[in-house]
Amino acid sequence: MPSQTLADKTRGDFPLLSKSISEDKQLIYLDHAATSQKPCQVINRLNDYYCQINANVHRGAHQLSAKATEAFEGSREIVQNFVRARSSKEIIFTRNATEGINLIARSWGELNLKKDDEILLTIMEHHSNLIPWQLLAKRTGCVLRYVKVTLSGEFDLDDFYSKLNQRTKLVSLVHVSNTLGCSNPIQEVADLAHSFGSLVLVDACQSLAHQPVDVSSLGIDFLVGSSHKICGPTGVGFLWGREDLLDKMPPFLGGGEMIQDVFLDHFTPAEIPHKFEAGTPPIGEAIAMGSAIQYLESIGLENIKSWETILLEHLFEKLQSINGLNVLGPTPSRQMMRGALATFSVENTHPNDIAALLDLAGICIRSGHHCCQPLHRYYGLSGTARVSLSFTSTTEEIDCFIDELSTAISFLKKNA
Ligand code: ALA
Repeated sequence: MPSQTLADKTRGDFPLLSKSISEDKQLIYLDHAATSQKPCQVINRLNDYYCQINANVHRGAHQLSAKATEAFEGSREIVQNFVRARSSKEIIFTRNATEGINLIARSWGELNLKKDDEILLTIMEHHSNLIPWQLLAKRTGCVLRYVKVTLSGEFDLDDFYSKLNQRTKLVSLVHVSNTLGCSNPIQEVADLAHSFGSLVLVDACQSLAHQPVDVSSLGIDFLVGSSHKICGPTGVGFLWGREDLLDKMPPFLGGGEMIQDVFLDHFTPAEIPHKFEAGTPPIGEAIAMGSAIQYLESIGLENIKSWETILLEHLFEKLQSINGLNVLGPTPSRQMMRGALATFSVENTHPNDIAALLDLAGICIRSGHHCCQPLHRYYGLSGTARVSLSFTSTTEEIDCFIDELSTAISFLKKNA
């Protein structure tokens, strides 16, 4: 079966996935939405960078610096092609997606927003797409409004339409929710938002490693991503923005690298992308992020999507057989492009207890609010458990997870 071989073909690349927890038990990692595991191609690239070409970029006249700069700027082009951006100047390296959103809030937000202008978010946003806007609202007096979710746990287009108006200056939303798993109708949102003169920012953290993402066909204005969610190292991420918008935006952080000329009383900023990259960047990490993208592309995002869809259907079918278990968000049969994760609650049990018992069995899942407290509050829950998959996951791992989950629930109910 060709799809089955996708996990078989790739698992050997991930040193951590062959880790054992006892003589006869292997670790089962089902927390890919929190952070992805790293293949040796990425680990080796990071190691090679430090062993072979470690030097600062854009500065030295020496050969090492030229090599590091070439690899660093090469990685920018890899990111550009990954999201189908028009120019590598539109790719800004950041620390992570959170920093990308903060950059837009600070730079674009303070330049363009005034009192009573509106930003439209959704109640399913990660805290990283809430707090930068709350801080901006305090500084500018702009107003935050929130699109609800439907009964099936999806983006409510009718509610969106009713809240969009001439005062809306930005719609900022997640592509695939890290909690509901729903995939949001970005193209439709962008078309509608643009017809009201609003820009659109997309948090693509949970989609970039799972399906092809093309900023021009989505028709959006800004997008952020994090390397550690796409098989790359931590400490680096990126922001894509339309060149005409980035050109007009003032710098975010000040320091070396982001300048053209510096005087004692003023400075002139560099052109994009460097205008937004103050200080020495995470050079090796950015280069290794490029290798992570090349790795994903060598597998094929369409192949990844197909395999994860099979896994997800298997997972949902099994979860349905557990009494008192409720999964948030749409089913895979309702939404084909749904994210490869299931967030659930089980009556009369605490999600942290479930996660702790699974951990004893060598299975890693996440419990808590997943950085989505307002969404949990909306559902009247203080926390949930979440299992999240990747192309390296197998049906056997899911079956083992389901067995251990059933055992954990029985134990918790008996001892309640
Ligand atoms: N945003 C990450 C998650 O969903 C940390 O787990």
